[in-house]
Amino acid sequence: MAKMTIKDVAVAGRKVIVRVDFNVPLDAGQQIVDDTRIQAALPTIRYLLEQDAAVIIMSHLGRPKGAVVPEMSLKPVAARLGELLGRKVEMAPDCIGDQVRDMAAQLQPGQVLMLENLRFHAAEEANEPEFARELGALGDIYVNDAFGAAHRAHGSTEGITHHLSPAVSGLLMDKEITYLDETLKNPSRPFVAILGGAKIAGDKKNPGKIEVIQNLMDKVDALLIGGGMAYTFYKAMGLEIGNSLLEENSIPTARSVMDNAERQGVELLLSVDCVVADKFAADARTQVVPREQIPAGWEGLDIGPQTRRLFTDKIATARTIAWNGPLGVFEMDAFAHGTLEIGRAVAAASDQGAISIIGGGDTAAAIAQAGLAERMTHISTGGGASLECMGGRVLPGVAALTEKE
Ligand code: 3PG
Repeated sequence: MAKMTIKDVAVAGRKVIVRVDFNVPLDAGQQIVDDTRIQAALPTIRYLLEQDAAVIIMSHLGRPKGAVVPEMSLKPVAARLGELLGRKVEMAPDCIGDQVRDMAAQLQPGQVLMLENLRFHAAEEANEPEFARELGALGDIYVNDAFGAAHRAHGSTEGITHHLSPAVSGLLMDKEITYLDETLKNPSRPFVAILGGAKIAGDKKNPGKIEVIQNLMDKVDALLIGGGMAYTFYKAMGLEIGNSLLEENSIPTARSVMDNAERQGVELLLSVDCVVADKFAADARTQVVPREQIPAGWEGLDIGPQTRRLFTDKIATARTIAWNGPLGVFEMDAFAHGTLEIGRAVAAASDQGAISIIGGGDTAAAIAQAGLAERMTHISTGGGASLECMGGRVLPGVAALTEKE
């Protein structure tokens, strides 16, 4: 069922409270290192301002755990947003309380107010009703554009929807849902998924790749697996993996993934060769070996040339491509070739009309590093949220939005 969006409500002259995910990286000098998430929310904010709404922005930044941590203030973010919008963004001293209420009450159409970090209050993550009610009391209409935080059932993503109705999605949220949920449920075929990265198993707070593998298994025509997690699969096949990454507890999982793929007739392409190094370092000695010949004392840090060809050929046949997780340690040049070549193959397929959906912060960073971002259909702004969506989980922040009539 489709969710209501900002296009479905009259916002002129109203106070609109917008939850965004401005959890951006800051350096030691409080400078924003990457403003992608701010840029991604601009269409929603600009639309609301053009419609003559008064806009109240709220976000978390980092994990201050309920304490006021000055280094995690949203002040630099408000300044950057002001630059990008070309208008003043007023900064509130907090996100609730009398002073904030007064500032919100005085806000006029066309003006923007940014609340201070929601997570300076433990009540945000605890989703305490009174905190959510106070947030809701600041505006007339609630918009959620924070896809990156939609997997958290917090006061500003879930609780507030019990106090302000309707709760509608912003333009970014709408786009993310379209690609990560709807397209993946009804893909044009052939549908090829590429999964890399280190972790197979999830933990209490974050899902691992296993959920994605299991969910996509029913939907894909081919599943390509590389990156750090491939070595646990090798181990499950009875191969020696030297010092490569091993998730001991996930060996049975890897085995059952391979069995399921065979039973379900899904083409599972696991990397067949790798670039191994004698240490985890940019200046390590390296060699290319078939996966059956990883020498003792060496570790696999990238997919090899044969795998690159195998994956590239498969990607070229796809009409829909979902990719989550790098295929090597792309942060070091010596081990970036696999990820970059696969990035170029996905970009080329997209140029030919395939839909490419990229999830996960690391994969997005690798694609940006390679200068390929513009050629992809959709690069998600969510890390954990995109993983959960690809894993088939219902995101509480999305579930809480009002459905269209
Ligand atoms: C993210 O960066 O993935 C989101 O902003 C969510 O942050 P969190 O993992 O601290 O909840």
